[in-house]
Amino acid sequence: MQVTMTVNGTVYSREVEARLLLIHFLRDSLGLTGSHWGCDTSNCGACVVWLDDTPVKSCTVLAAMADGHRLLTVEGLERGGKLDPVQQGFTECHGLQCGFCTPGMMLTARWLLDHNPDPSPEQIRAALSGQICRCTGYENIVRSVRWAAEHEAAEAGNGIGTGTGTADAAGTGHAAGTGDAAGTGDAAGTGDAAAQEAPA
Ligand code: FES
Ligand code: FES
Repeated sequence: MQVTMTVNGTVYSREVEARLLLIHFLRDSLGLTGSHWGCDTSNCGACVVWLDDTPVKSCTVLAAMADGHRLLTVEGLERGGKLDPVQQGFTECHGLQCGFCTPGMMLTARWLLDHNPDPSPEQIRAALSGQICRCTGYENIVRSVRWAAEHEAAEAGNGIGTGTGTADAAGTGHAAGTGDAAGTGDAAGTGDAAAQEAPA
C-alpha cells in the first residue's frame, strides 16, 4: 500500500507492507535513525515520536496508521541550525550516557514543556514514566528538562526558574506513556486524553 506523511516538514510517499511498524518505516525506509528500537513491546519508549501533536511509541503504531499525518522525530527538533532548548539542556546537564533513550526522552520533554512550561521534578518524572533509561539514573534527565524550562522562560522573560512547578495537566499527562491517538495502548502509563490534546 502507498502511504504519504509529512515528517519534520518534508512530505514522503512510500510503498509499504500493511504490517510495517512506524519505527521501521522511519529508520529503514526514510533513513531517520535517530528514533531507536529498543523493545518492540511498548515498554522502553526509545521509539517515541510525535504523531501530529501527540507523542506515541512508534513500535506500536503501523506506518499505515500514520498515512496522511504529521510526524516529528528527533531530527526535527533542531530549527534553523539552533538546537531546541531541550537538546541544549541534555547537553548542559549530562542528561545522557549511551544516548539510546535520549531521542524519545527529548521528544516527550518537548511535549511536556509545550503544555507545562514550568514543570516540577515530580511532573517531569511523571511525564517520562513511560520511558526507560538504562544509564543515567534519571536525575540528570530531570535536571536537563528543568534547564530547558528555565532557559526558555529566561528567553521569554517571564521569570520562571524557581524549580517549584505550577501547572498540572501536562505534568500528569504521561505524555510518553502514549496510550495515544493511534490506539496502541501501553502498560507504561497511558496519558489522559485531555493532556494529550494538540497544543493551541
Ligand atoms: Fe521500546 Fe517502542 S521500542 S517502546
Ligand atoms: Fe543510556 Fe538512557 S542514556 S539508556
